Order: sequence, then C-alpha cells, then structure tokens
Amino acid sequence: MKSFNRLLAGGALCLLSISTFAGSETPEGKVQATYPPISSDAYEKFGGKYGMDRWVESLFKYIMLDNRINYIFAEHGKIDRQIKLNQQLVAVMLGAPGVEYQGASMSAAHAEMGITLTQFNAVVEDAYLACEDLRTPYHTCNQLIAALAPFKRSIVTR
Ligand code: HEM
Repeated sequence: MKSFNRLLAGGALCLLSISTFAGSETPEGKVQATYPPISSDAYEKFGGKYGMDRWVESLFKYIMLDNRINYIFAEHGKIDRQIKLNQQLVAVMLGAPGVEYQGASMSAAHAEMGITLTQFNAVVEDAYLACEDLRTPYHTCNQLIAALAPFKRSIVTR
C-alpha cells in the first residue's frame, strides 16, 4: 500500500510538471476550463454534487491531519468557508451545471501566504488520499488533479 501511495504522489508530481501549458484562471482571476478537457462524465463519476461535496470534506479532513500544512489553514481559520468555496470550485472545474464559484481568485486568496511548491504538493497528496477515501476511480481522480494543477502558478509564490 505504501508503494501504491508513493506511485500516486509521483503521478501527482508528474502531472504538476507537465501542466504548465494549461490555464485554469484568466488574468482577471476568473476560473475557466482547462486543456486537456475533463471528460464529460467526470462529474457523474465523482458521484455528482453529493460525491463532489464529500470529496472536498475528505480533502479537508486530510489537510487538517497533515502536519506539513495544517497550521497554515488553522491560522487563517474559516475552514467552513473554504470547504464551501472549494466545493464550488471543483464543481465548476468538472463542468457541473448551474454552479458559480463565488470566492476570490487563486492569486488573491493565497498572495500573502508565501506558499512553497512542497506545501502545494502536500495538498495534491491529500487530494489523492481523498480519492482513495471515496474510492474515486483513479483516472477520474487524475483528471481533477490535472485540472487543479495549473493553479500552482497562482498559488506558489516562494
Ligand atoms: C490546487 C490547490 C488549491 C486550491 C484549489 C485552493 C483553493 C482555495 C480556495 C477556493 C480558497 C478560498 C478563497 C476565498 O476565501 O475567497 C482558498 C483559500 C485558502 N487557501 Fe487554498 N487552495 C489550494 C492550495 C493551497 C495551499 C497549497 C495552501 C497552503 C498550504 C492553501 C491555503 C489556503 C488558506 C490558508 C486559505 C484561506 C485564506 C483566507 O481566508 O484568508 N491553499 N484556497
């Protein structure tokens, strides 16, 4: 199981390193679809709104258990708000109908935190753990991670 986890983490890092051509945020800070596109059944495979919402809750469970980064989230508080906004964000990323992301742009939200690539990758690892937790198909999970990965450019500032 340990080596499987390492493989997952390695996969995440590969995705991050090949993702620089893609864009998830316009210069004005609006979330937009990524290239390569997410397959049209990804939202359904995540279990629709119910599955997606549980996935974000699970992600935050792992983030708050993760000593590499949990203190940053604890310091800024507002975890409930973050869960809600991340639920909106991933729903938009997966093409959920009628959902609007109402939070700040990724660059504005993370600007003052001096987030490192290592901390960013810790969140990616926790995202894979959330997929395992909810038994999300590996391919479907990878599509979401690939869609979120380009935010690295807006979030990592150190
Ligand atoms: C793909 C990766 C990430 C995504 C999609 C993401 C998404 C978000 C979203 C949607 C918000 C809410 C914005 C708002 O309040 O309007 C937020 C805020 C925040 N994020 Fe991230 N984030 C990511 C990576 C990280 C990382 C790596 C860290 C730290 C290790 C981090 C720490 C925070 C904190 C502390 C806040 C709260 C800011 C505040 O309320 O002042 N995020 N993030």
